[in-house]
Amino acid sequence: MLAKRPPMGFNTWNTFGGNISEQLIIETCDAMVEKGYRDAGYKYIVIDDCWMTGERDKNGRLVPDPAKFPHGMRCLADYIHERGMKFGIYSCAGTRTCQGLPSSFGHEFEDARTFAEWGVDFLKYDFCNFPERADCKLAYHTMSMALKSSGREILFSACQWGREEPWKWMRSIGAHMYRSTGDIWDNYISIRDIAESQFENLPTNASGCFNDPDMLVVGMYGKGNVGDSENRVTDEEYRTHFALWCFMGVPLMIGGDVRTMDGFSKDLLLNKELIAVDQDEECRDPFMVGNRGGHRPVFIRHMSDGGFVIGMFNLSDNRAGMPFIFADAGLPYASGVGLRLTDLFTGEDLGVKRDYFVPVLEKHACRLYRAYLERV
Ligand code: GAL
Repeated sequence: MLAKRPPMGFNTWNTFGGNISEQLIIETCDAMVEKGYRDAGYKYIVIDDCWMTGERDKNGRLVPDPAKFPHGMRCLADYIHERGMKFGIYSCAGTRTCQGLPSSFGHEFEDARTFAEWGVDFLKYDFCNFPERADCKLAYHTMSMALKSSGREILFSACQWGREEPWKWMRSIGAHMYRSTGDIWDNYISIRDIAESQFENLPTNASGCFNDPDMLVVGMYGKGNVGDSENRVTDEEYRTHFALWCFMGVPLMIGGDVRTMDGFSKDLLLNKELIAVDQDEECRDPFMVGNRGGHRPVFIRHMSDGGFVIGMFNLSDNRAGMPFIFADAGLPYASGVGLRLTDLFTGEDLGVKRDYFVPVLEKHACRLYRAYLERV
């Protein structure tokens, strides 16, 4: 089964945009192996837009840009596979990609066969230049069928930016993940808005087909293709970003440069506890216990080991007490049952709590606790 758990990997777009090459992919692959990303679960290396030439060849096939990929895609796929990783590529449901290059509308089956021949394991399928009168759901279903008939298992990552409420139908057409929002930018407001927009759409985020609130911007610090140097994200905000994605149980696609990632960001992306939350096998969405002012959500998420993770996210612009009211989490005082709490970041044991507790969080900060039921 593909995408039993949220897919994890790296994608070129956030940092490199169209500035991609065989050399970059090889160096990225090496860095992912050497620095521990592969072993932490980041398996897919995905080449986004701008890998192809301006026209198809005389047989109607897509052609890798020879200046960027002089040895072609099969060779790159072999390199990646030999190192225990998986190879992803990009096309688009429209007539041209977002950067104006040839894409798959009307060519779905031949393109899927080409990708299979190249050893592709993952297709990101975008939505630019989609013909006005064509049927979006059908177009995604056509590519899904094309991939299934290609002779190779290829993960289908649909990217139509949340248009036509994909959480209601992407699972039914066989996608393994689907973008549910517009593009992320490397600033705090973008991170916050994207996360908040998906809280109510998470119930259908589940094994086999995941809601994809876009790639991570951790470690970009204002640089790169979607970098925002005027609104630099702080370490604390990157921590909240990554913790939110893990807590929601969504795909983790690194968008920063793994070759040069700073120590803080690397440790964050490799945080075993957070990754374990993201990859929990029951893939449950969190239950919202409260959300003061709309920007201070407090959740409890049921985990497969019979315990829970409590997530508190102070997304507001002020320091704030974040009340966790046990009665609102299904545990009234009279139940005689409390929760033993351990801080997921520090490992600190907070003992058994009941009734309520109110940690104070700085603006844009988060807390996560592992929690287990205990009689008191
Ligand atoms: C956008 C997509 C981005 C990136 C870009 C490439 O539509 O949302 O993630 O793939 O196109 O041109």
